[in-house]
Amino acid sequence: LHVLAVTSEIYPLVKTGGLADVTGALPKALSTYGIATHTLVPGYPSILALARLHPPLMEFDDLLGEKATLRHLEIDGLSLFVLDAPALYDRPGGPYVDENGVDHADNWKRFAVLSLAGAEIAAGALPGWQPDLIHTHDWQSALTSVYLRQMGSAVPVVLTIHNLAFQGQYSASLLPYIGLPPEVYSVDQMEYFGDISYLKGGLVTADHITVVSPTYAREILSPTFGMGLDGVLNARMDRLQGIVNGIDKEIWNPATDPYLPFRYDAKTVRNKKNNKALLLERFHLEPGDGPLFSAVTRITWQKGMDMLAEVADEIFHWGGRLIVHGQGDHDIEDALKATAARFPGRMAVSIGFNEPTAHLIHGGSDAIIQPSRFEPCGLTQLYGLRYGCVPVVSRTGGLSETIIDANDAAISARAATGFQFHPVRPEGLRHAIRRAAEAYGDKRKWARLQLQAMRADYSWDRSAESYAEVYGRLTDARAQLPH
Ligand code: ADP
Ligand code: GLC
Repeated sequence: LHVLAVTSEIYPLVKTGGLADVTGALPKALSTYGIATHTLVPGYPSILALARLHPPLMEFDDLLGEKATLRHLEIDGLSLFVLDAPALYDRPGGPYVDENGVDHADNWKRFAVLSLAGAEIAAGALPGWQPDLIHTHDWQSALTSVYLRQMGSAVPVVLTIHNLAFQGQYSASLLPYIGLPPEVYSVDQMEYFGDISYLKGGLVTADHITVVSPTYAREILSPTFGMGLDGVLNARMDRLQGIVNGIDKEIWNPATDPYLPFRYDAKTVRNKKNNKALLLERFHLEPGDGPLFSAVTRITWQKGMDMLAEVADEIFHWGGRLIVHGQGDHDIEDALKATAARFPGRMAVSIGFNEPTAHLIHGGSDAIIQPSRFEPCGLTQLYGLRYGCVPVVSRTGGLSETIIDANDAAISARAATGFQFHPVRPEGLRHAIRRAAEAYGDKRKWARLQLQAMRADYSWDRSAESYAEVYGRLTDARAQLPH
């Protein structure tokens, strides 16, 4: 089975969050099921540098007025189609923002062009290769199925929702510029509160919709989590399925991780303390016997980092330390820095995005803290489990189903892997921190929790099978249609 995935991020080449981890890992996991994935990505500078070493596969003369070259690149077991359109993608900054953190003004065009290229490839533009199925991810590639339906193509499309908070909402006046007819501006198509929504366009035209955890798949049917799209999602409930993300066990493996000065597994987990000592030193924190809590995260309201700024003192009350590594909302970054300034030597805030640092933090921390207000799946708690960091999480979305709270019953059943709190409020987080710090004080209890965390299996194996089933069902159904 040949699949064309279309995405705006892919690890290891371009990453702002979990989307890249998933699009980078899933093709490898699916290859076991005889599924060959090619992934279409924009030619950002980091990708172009490698892709331009290879001859072009084909030229697009007119993608919404832009010329583009399609190139092929194989890297780390991934097969990429790179859309080389320098006017759109070859510029400084990240995939969505410029060097100053401001959204590129033409994102509406950049991701429409990506989607249109995906649709044209699916419809046969690339001589000698055509996919049996398309897999799109979030609003950035959601228009692919809209274009395909406009072209009259019936190639099946799976759309995965990673985060409903980002919807690609733009003025309807852009429709002629993205090559779509005025008819799509209707309530049952792309119209969205007087604008158009790329994600809605994908939701109404995809053949199947997956969501990155079963819990989030249920939550988004309610107005609280549906972010304005709950009506559309309810209407498509029969096509909506939650499949929990896995982790790439080779990239996130404390026994082989090249970024860890001291490697370990469940049997040698005591080595973690050497990483911890290095971490404390690197972040200018005082050594101590208390627990080291860390967060590696986008610093946003979604991730509840404002709540952490408010209640971090609870950690220090128990003799603990806190490291926050991430970037995002400047007000919340400032709030965290202000708390750190009140507790010198106890709390460090490092603003930035750095993959090796993320690994080292997991390799040396006792607990990973993730107080999200909503969390479609969440990967850092899964990395935390694998690295023997006990997760302290809110009970929402993927966090609620991947972490087993250390209540008395779960502890005696030797099933507990972390601490959950609900409702998601500062007092709840404070209470969860207190429970974790108390447990840390009981060395045997903590060692058991840590071990249970490390034994939890969140590899891609099971979830890849679910995707393979979805692909199989859709392509079989298509094969049975009369020609
Ligand atoms: P989301 O996709 O909502 O940001 P996830 O938990 O699914 O949340 O995935 C976040 C991914 O991004 C993880 O791989 C995490 O390690 C990584 N990450 C987040 N912030 C940083 C950062 N500042 N530096 C390095 N990696 C980061
Ligand atoms: C999104 C979500 C996160 C999820 C990731 C990968 O960014 O916020 O919860 O783990 O996508 O699916």
